[in-house]
Amino acid sequence: MSRRRARSRVLLGVTGKCADSTRVIGPAGWCYRTTMEVAPGAFHLQGALDVDAQRELFARCRFLMDGPVAAYVPVVRGGGKMHVRMLCLGRHWNGKTYRYEAIRSDFDGQPAPPIPDEFRALARRLAESVGMTLDPDVCIMNYYDNEGRMGLHQDKDESERSLVAGLPVVSVSLGDTARFLFGGTKRRDAVQTISLASGDAFVFGGPARLCYHGVSRILPGTAPPALGFDGRFNLTFRQYDV
Ligand code: SIN
Ligand code: MN
Repeated sequence: MSRRRARSRVLLGVTGKCADSTRVIGPAGWCYRTTMEVAPGAFHLQGALDVDAQRELFARCRFLMDGPVAAYVPVVRGGGKMHVRMLCLGRHWNGKTYRYEAIRSDFDGQPAPPIPDEFRALARRLAESVGMTLDPDVCIMNYYDNEGRMGLHQDKDESERSLVAGLPVVSVSLGDTARFLFGGTKRRDAVQTISLASGDAFVFGGPARLCYHGVSRILPGTAPPALGFDGRFNLTFRQYDV
């Protein structure tokens, strides 16, 4: 088998048997430690990626973040800076207009790089494993340093049809653990705090698609030593239209 194919297999999590007896095989053959439905339509998939898959994904994220179309700190509508470095793949999310576009018109006019096929396959498979479908054409990669955070918000800039269909957001975390906040569809609804660790995925669709969420803090020094990096990457995959 060529090196390229072998690398893809790890990234896609097709690792054969579950080596760890605490893990279970999910509906699509994926290997999880646990899957919890934290609210109707919202699933926390702990340990969705093993360490090899995390290392592979991390290497690709770092390469993209510092590549020719590099990540940057967006300035949003009100003039404030976000507390993450962001790179959008597939389509660019414009922090000034809260719309998607082909080029980064709020920053440097460069085109959004394509989403690697393996990333798309990973997201599709994670969605399928909780009984949802997703053909992602947007991947937002965020890098959080020790001070990184993200206020409570809804992901609602995708098309009306995509939102009404409840097509999920698939989130994959790498590196330091995040305190992830997940609420209801109204800002005032109660919020639960969930620890998203390296290799965890979180999928919210259907009735949970418009739930408020955010990241209150990063826990420095909690990344698996095997990854050898500080901070946290989070990738969220979405499908703009049906
Ligand atoms: C986001 O809501 O876009 C990112 C969530 C996260 O970093 O876990
Ligand atoms: Mn979001």
